[in-house]
Amino acid sequence: MQTHDAIVLGGGAAGLMCAAVAGQRGRRVLVLERAPEVGKKILISGGGRCNFTNLGTAPDRYLSANPHFAKSALSRYTARDFLALVEAYGIAWHEKTLGQLFCDGSARQIVAMLLTECAKAEAAGGAVEVRCGEEIGEVSHDGGEYRVMTSSGAFAAPALVIATGGPSIPKMGASDFAYRLARQFGLKVVEPRPALVPLTLGGEDVLFRELSGVSADVVARCGKAAFREAALFTHRGLSGPAILQVSSYWRSGDAIGIDFLPDAAEGWLLEAKRAHPRGTVRSVLGDALPDRLAATLAERIAFDGDLGNMPDKALRTAEARLADWRFHPNGSEGFAKAEVTIGGIATAELSSKTMEARRVPGLYAIGEAVDVTGWLGGYNFQWAWASAVAAGTAL
Ligand code: FDA
Repeated sequence: MQTHDAIVLGGGAAGLMCAAVAGQRGRRVLVLERAPEVGKKILISGGGRCNFTNLGTAPDRYLSANPHFAKSALSRYTARDFLALVEAYGIAWHEKTLGQLFCDGSARQIVAMLLTECAKAEAAGGAVEVRCGEEIGEVSHDGGEYRVMTSSGAFAAPALVIATGGPSIPKMGASDFAYRLARQFGLKVVEPRPALVPLTLGGEDVLFRELSGVSADVVARCGKAAFREAALFTHRGLSGPAILQVSSYWRSGDAIGIDFLPDAAEGWLLEAKRAHPRGTVRSVLGDALPDRLAATLAERIAFDGDLGNMPDKALRTAEARLADWRFHPNGSEGFAKAEVTIGGIATAELSSKTMEARRVPGLYAIGEAVDVTGWLGGYNFQWAWASAVAAGTAL
């Protein structure tokens, strides 16, 4: 039986960061990763360039059963802190849009940086050992010690960190392992759902699937949540950043409202009637939207003929409809296509300062496994880093 100060299950964003921080505090840490290499989601993130944080990080950009839970960790390890680390490694970066920071080069630089941070443990009298290809078997807790059986041996430590992520993208090996382990130790799990996920359309909305490939800058709304970004029609329904964002707030049966002309001033269609009485709804929409989308919307509004012949009341109704076009998704593309998972290990079970389970000393949970889910745009990695630092500092 090999003993360590802490065992971290999962060598992803959160697991590697936690191991590095604890190792640099002189701890002997073992990282057990099932995949043949660490950080697979980092490598594919941001189209291979890793959107590693967001300068707009704030607790209200995270969803959780307890919206206050993330505050402590996010305030103690900020987007600027992670950016300082990236800069210390000379990794070139750029802000793409809306505070989203990406590597100029490859996401591999972030994984290499985390592994170098782990290696720095030795200079501090600690050690981080990363073992890949480890299939985790039985996990037990006895006499203040956690024991983990794997395909290659038995390991023990007084602290165990669950950093195995959520079940999004199972074809990459993601699973509900974190939840099963948490439940084994009596921790509650908030029902996991796919988030940042494309939505599917059926029924009357099915016609819009013919617009597959068309995108437009819109405001998408679900309940009180509203996001101004691009929406994309797909052969199954709706996607694009605006839709992925609202999908985290969407529940079966909810409508999604889309404002197709977010910059249009109130009364713009009446104004168009005055300025271009021989114009049509399709032609004025075509000035602002892709032609195929303009045609479909005009067809659905069922207006043909000159604007000059349309009653003002009908134009006001059309304008209101275009500002809040209601789609009724019949589902989402599920965990297979979800960028993250909403829900997870209940925050009520954990200390917000250390991520340690309140009722199970020595057991920690960090990253996506926990019921904290960020918006699209680097927020989820920032949560992984911040929650990992909180635990790594406490181990
Ligand atoms: P993560 O999933 O990174 O790591 C968990 C690790 O545990 C994995 O290495 C896994 O193999 C391992 N593991 C799982 N089960 C195990 C077991 N039983 N035994 C041992 N090991 C096990 N976020 C963001 O902020 N910016 C972005 O650009 C993107 N882009 C992006 C693209 C795509 C396609 C996806 C799917 C996701 C993103 N994300 C993102 C989300 C981001 O990837 C996610 O929030 C973090 O990776 C979560 O970090 P964790 O360390 O918690 O889990």
